[in-house]
Amino acid sequence: MVIIDFPLPGLTEIQELIRTTVPPERLKIQGLGQEQLIRACQGLTRQRIQRILARALAQKNQVTEKDIDLVLEEKKQYIRQTEILEFYPASATLSSVGGLENLKEWVRQRRNSFGEQAAKYGLPTPKGVLLVGIQGTGKSLSAKAIAQEWRMPLLRLDAGRLFGGIVGESEGRTRQMIQIAEAMAPCVLWLDEIDKAFGGVGGEYSGDSGTSKRVFGGLITWMQEKTKPVFIVATANNVQVLPAELLRKGRFDEIFFLNLPTEPERREIWRVHLERVRPSRIRDFQLDEL
Ligand SMILES: Nc1ncnc2c1ncn2[C@@H]1O[C@H](COP(=O)(O)OP(=O)(O)OP(=O)(O)O)[C@@H](O)[C@H]1O
Ligand SMILES: [Mg+2]
Repeated sequence: MVIIDFPLPGLTEIQELIRTTVPPERLKIQGLGQEQLIRACQGLTRQRIQRILARALAQKNQVTEKDIDLVLEEKKQYIRQTEILEFYPASATLSSVGGLENLKEWVRQRRNSFGEQAAKYGLPTPKGVLLVGIQGTGKSLSAKAIAQEWRMPLLRLDAGRLFGGIVGESEGRTRQMIQIAEAMAPCVLWLDEIDKAFGGVGGEYSGDSGTSKRVFGGLITWMQEKTKPVFIVATANNVQVLPAELLRKGRFDEIFFLNLPTEPERREIWRVHLERVRPSRIRDFQLDEL
């Protein structure tokens, strides 16, 4: 028997699909815009892409730049329907994170390491980072800022949703999650609070016949072997309960510890937040006192 996989359409296939679905004189989008449209379609099935294009054609008889948002909206819907991943709109930028200079520097340096040029030059594609630390020190904020800095879509995995009630369902959902993430590559996959999801994996008795162990095993194998540019940002509060195999080099490029902010960092955080809510009156505040 030959087993044939039908992956979601890739970039060239999507281009072809757009070309065959939309008559050339109605395609009012060129160059960079077209590239963005193709990227936006990544992660959707052929049928869905065709349907969106058909809808755009029916509404205004042409496909324009505005339809990129339509595609993104549809994608958000689709990803939400799978109930495993969540599509996060771009929000925070690196400049809205105060302090954390090491992390910010690390992220800035790798800004260009995902393109074709970087691959030709021989730069390894960044795999991921683990952010551990005290609650409320900006781990979730940094995850969002990384995606925004690199201009990549941000997918958030709710690890609790990976687990289904039927035997084998959890493993299946893990595979589905990986498939969606890879189809959207390059993207940032945000595993929030992994210590809560996989904290018990190291122990003898997990109480679920080993399901969480198998899900965890599948996940770390993929993290090691993945070839698609899916950058993982994992966050955790308690590093002690995390299994040792997750922490070794190779799974993550780097592990950052986010401590309570130092004095210059606290000043920086005040400034960031005051600038957001009282942009014109920032001089009235005595940052040092605060
Ligand atoms: N370095 C920072 N610069 C600016 N704002 C910050 C910083 N750290 C935290 N904040 C503010 O605190 C809020 C909470 O931070 P965040 O959600 O990132 O915490 P967390 O580390 O993910 O906490 P938890 O471990 O509880 O999930 C942010 O929304 C942000 O407004
Ligand atoms: Mg958080």
